[in-house]
Amino acid sequence: MPNSAKKAAVLEVIGVTKQFRGKIAVDCVDLQVANGEFLSILGPSGCGKTTLLRLIGGLEKPDRGRLVLNGQDITNLSAHKRNVHTVFQRYALFPHMNVFDNVAFGLRCKKIHENETRSRVEEMLELANLKGQGHRAIHTLSGGEQQRIALVRALVNLPKLLLLDEPLGALDLKLRLQLQQELVAIQKRVKTTFVFVTHDQQEALNMSDRVAVMNQAKVEQIGTPNEIYEFPKTLFAASFVGGINRLDGVLRIDEGGRCICEVEGLGGFFVEPPTEYRQAGVKGLICLRPEKVTLFSRRPSTIENVVEGTIRSQSYLGTHTQFEVLIKNGGVISVFQQNTQKLAKKVFQVNDKVFMGWQASLSHFFSYQALK
Ligand SMILES: Nc1ncnc2c1ncn2[C@@H]1O[C@H](COP(=O)(O)OP(=O)(O)O)[C@@H](O)[C@H]1O
Ligand SMILES: [Mg+2]
Repeated sequence: MPNSAKKAAVLEVIGVTKQFRGKIAVDCVDLQVANGEFLSILGPSGCGKTTLLRLIGGLEKPDRGRLVLNGQDITNLSAHKRNVHTVFQRYALFPHMNVFDNVAFGLRCKKIHENETRSRVEEMLELANLKGQGHRAIHTLSGGEQQRIALVRALVNLPKLLLLDEPLGALDLKLRLQLQQELVAIQKRVKTTFVFVTHDQQEALNMSDRVAVMNQAKVEQIGTPNEIYEFPKTLFAASFVGGINRLDGVLRIDEGGRCICEVEGLGGFFVEPPTEYRQAGVKGLICLRPEKVTLFSRRPSTIENVVEGTIRSQSYLGTHTQFEVLIKNGGVISVFQQNTQKLAKKVFQVNDKVFMGWQASLSHFFSYQALK
C-alpha cells in the first residue's frame, strides 16, 4: 500500500465476511482505500466482487468484520446514511425524465434549493461533455452518453465514495476503451474516491491507481497495476492478469548457492523464489510470461535459462508475433516477440528449431505448498 493510503484512508474494510446460506461470498477481506484513489476490484465471475461492493454500500450486512468511512464506523449504518453512491452496469436512468431531471433527481430529493440545483447540474453536464443538452430525452442518448450521465448523476451528490459495478460491461469494445479514458479523466478532475469492479484485467490495469485481485471470496493481492502484473504474489494473480507458461519441477541449490528448478525431461532452470521456499526438495512451478521470453536461432551463451524447441505455429499480429513452441517434455511455450524491425519476410518458420531464453529474475516460482 502506498503511504498515501495509510495516511488518509477514506474507507477501511476490516475482516469483512459474508455468507449466503452457508456459502462464503466474501471471506475475511481487508482493504484500505486512500482519499481520491481509483481502486479496482478484479476477479472472475462469482468471486464475490458485487457482494463486497454491496457490503461497502450498505445493501448487505456483514456477518463479521467492520467498515470505517472517513474515520466513522458505518458497519451498522443504513445505506442511505452512508454518503456512498453506486453506479451499476444497467444505467438505471429514469426513461420518462430528460437528462437534466435525471441528474437533478438526487438534489431534489434532498430539497436542495432550485438555483443551486441548476448550477450543480450544469456543472455536471459539462463534466459529462453534454453541456447545454439537459433537455434531451434519455432514449436519444448513445450508450456512452447514458453511462456518463449515470456517472454524473451519482457525482452530483458529492459522495465520499463512488462504487461502480462493471459500469462498462454492456458497451462494445471500442466505446468501452474510450469510456475507460473518459471515466479516469472525470475521476481525476473531481478527485472523488472510486471503487470500481471489473472482471476485465486490461480495464483494471489501464484505469486504476491500485488493483485488488479477488478469487473465491478472498482478496489475493493488492497493488499498483505494475506490481500486480510484474510481481504477482499468487499463481492465480499471475494467470488472471496475463498469459503465463508453466514448467513444473523440484528445487535444488547449486554449489554457488543459487536456486535451480529441475524440470523433468528439460533440465534445470535458475529461479528466484521467495526466501521461505528457497530450499532443496521444494516442489512447485516456474511461471513465465510470453513476452519475457526471447527467441534465438542459435543457442545463446549469455542468457541464464535456455530451452530448446520446435515452432508449432506462429501468428503475425502487426505489433508482435505470437509463437507456440513445442518443447521436449511434450509441453508448449508461448512466446510474444515485438516486431521492432520492418521485415518483409518471417524470421522464423513453422518446424524451425529454436532456442528460448530468459533471465531468472523475469520468471516467478510458486511452491505447491503456497498454492494450497
Ligand atoms: N443474495 C444472494 N443469495 C445467495 N447467494 C448469493 C447472493 N448474492 C451473491 N450470492 C453468491 O455469492 C457468490 C458471489 O457472488 P457475487 O458477489 O455476485 O460475485 P461477482 O460479482 O464477483 O460475480 C456467488 O456464488 C453468488 O451466487
Ligand atoms: Mg458482479
